[in-house]
Amino acid sequence: MIPGNRMLMVILLCQVLLGGTNHASLIPETGRKKVAELQGQAGSGRRSAQSHELLRGFETTLLQMFGLRRRPQPSKSAVIPSYMLDLYRLQSGEEEESLQEISLQYPERSTSRANTVRSFHHEEHLESVPGPSEAPRIRFVFNLSSVPDNEVISSAELRLYREQVEEPSAAWERGFHRINIYEVMKPLSERSQAITRLLDTRLVHHNVTRWETFDVSPAVIRWTKDKQPNHGLVIEVTHLHQAQTHQGKHVRISRSLPQGHGGDWAQLRPLLVTFGHDGRGHALTRRARRSPKHQRSRKNKKNCRRHALYVDFSDVGWNDWIVAPPGYQAFYCHGDCPFPLADHLNSTNHAIVQTLVNSVNSSIPKACCVPTELSAISMLYLDEYDKVVLKNYQEMVVEGCGCR
Ligand SMILES: *[C@@H]1O[C@H](CO)[C@@H](O)[C@H](O)[C@H]1NC(C)=O
Ligand SMILES: *[C@@H]1O[C@H](CO)[C@@H](O)[C@H](O)[C@H]1NC(C)=O
Ligand SMILES: *[C@@H]1O[C@H](CO)[C@@H](O)[C@H](O)[C@H]1NC(C)=O
Ligand SMILES: *[C@@H]1O[C@H](CO)[C@@H](O)[C@H](O)[C@H]1NC(C)=O
Repeated sequence: MIPGNRMLMVILLCQVLLGGTNHASLIPETGRKKVAELQGQAGSGRRSAQSHELLRGFETTLLQMFGLRRRPQPSKSAVIPSYMLDLYRLQSGEEEESLQEISLQYPERSTSRANTVRSFHHEEHLESVPGPSEAPRIRFVFNLSSVPDNEVISSAELRLYREQVEEPSAAWERGFHRINIYEVMKPLSERSQAITRLLDTRLVHHNVTRWETFDVSPAVIRWTKDKQPNHGLVIEVTHLHQAQTHQGKHVRISRSLPQGHGGDWAQLRPLLVTFGHDGRGHALTRRARRSPKHQRSRKNKKNCRRHALYVDFSDVGWNDWIVAPPGYQAFYCHGDCPFPLADHLNSTNHAIVQTLVNSVNSSIPKACCVPTELSAISMLYLDEYDKVVLKNYQEMVVEGCGCR
């Protein structure tokens, strides 16, 4: 349980007290007016300075809660891999119809032990061809320094895109390729060859277009958990038969190949995906779409119950780094906890006793209307290094209220 998450609830509670409306939002009405004033008459006086401070306060609190040191400032060139978007959409249980066009197999095994998924593109300036070889062999370095120390990586995969090659059926048997993935244990030097170890391999036929996933967990765990030097991975594509007519044109491991198809490189380039857990809360188990809980009508509408509260990330100007969702229904708890406490108010024996005492001595307060059940949401965002992260945040949504 992180104290940070309690903090959001405190903010929400405060704003309920400040606003007192049924449909509050992230910044209390007063703060919102101040922000509007600030935007209207830029650079004028004490009030704008105040609202600036207010906004900064909110930001700091929320960043702390998300475990970020500072507000990410994504560059214009930041790319959101469609794999991460699809993963988010499957994970958050969007409408069935829109999920049907996603061909992605949800990585159930990897996510069952992870609450954070990160994606990385390689550093193109460090790309190299390690040593003489007949087959295309390229070294890729993925900079994993943005993985925080408290995040334990349990698995990692390398995703490569390969394209179908049209060929007369007579040439069918020439279409077999082997894709080998190595970890570089010792880089090429003047005196010696590079030392590599095989991580994963697959025999494929170039008759289909699809992503191939390779297990690179041992290497990534060595670099992150064991703090061993990261000399990168080597991807090698070999042809089983000598006729090398399509040499290097099949698997997208280089920006320049195949000729004339460079434009979609940002989406089709190799992608390293890590699955890790920072010890906070539950793993990314796939959520079934939540059916709205039936709120049965009560005798007294003023009693403790759940109210709508939509938190809009654009209120704090965060829609540039939070890719999805644009906001979410957080809800809040508000209402009376009258004597005697009824069963449906989810109270405890202690709350019942406290309410009883209050009825005879009003200097002892009544029980409070508070969240008794909270659930998590997943968020897709760009971190400080333009890397795309999918993370599960616990205790973000009120599921039930009660008198405690
Ligand atoms: C990896 O990224 C970090 C943070 O951006 C940077 O400081 C570091 O120099 C990078 N390392 C390499 C090898 O590019
Ligand atoms: C492609 O070739 C493989 C390997 O022989 C075969 O198993 C598969 O059915 C073929 N797929 C298509 C779409 O032709
Ligand atoms: C009510 O409770 C307060 C606080 O415990 C106590 O000081 C006070 O004596 C109580 N009053 C009565 C009438 O029991
Ligand atoms: C009590 O909790 C249940 C489940 O957590 C919830 O469905 C219900 O709405 C809660 N009662 C109130 C008054 O919120």
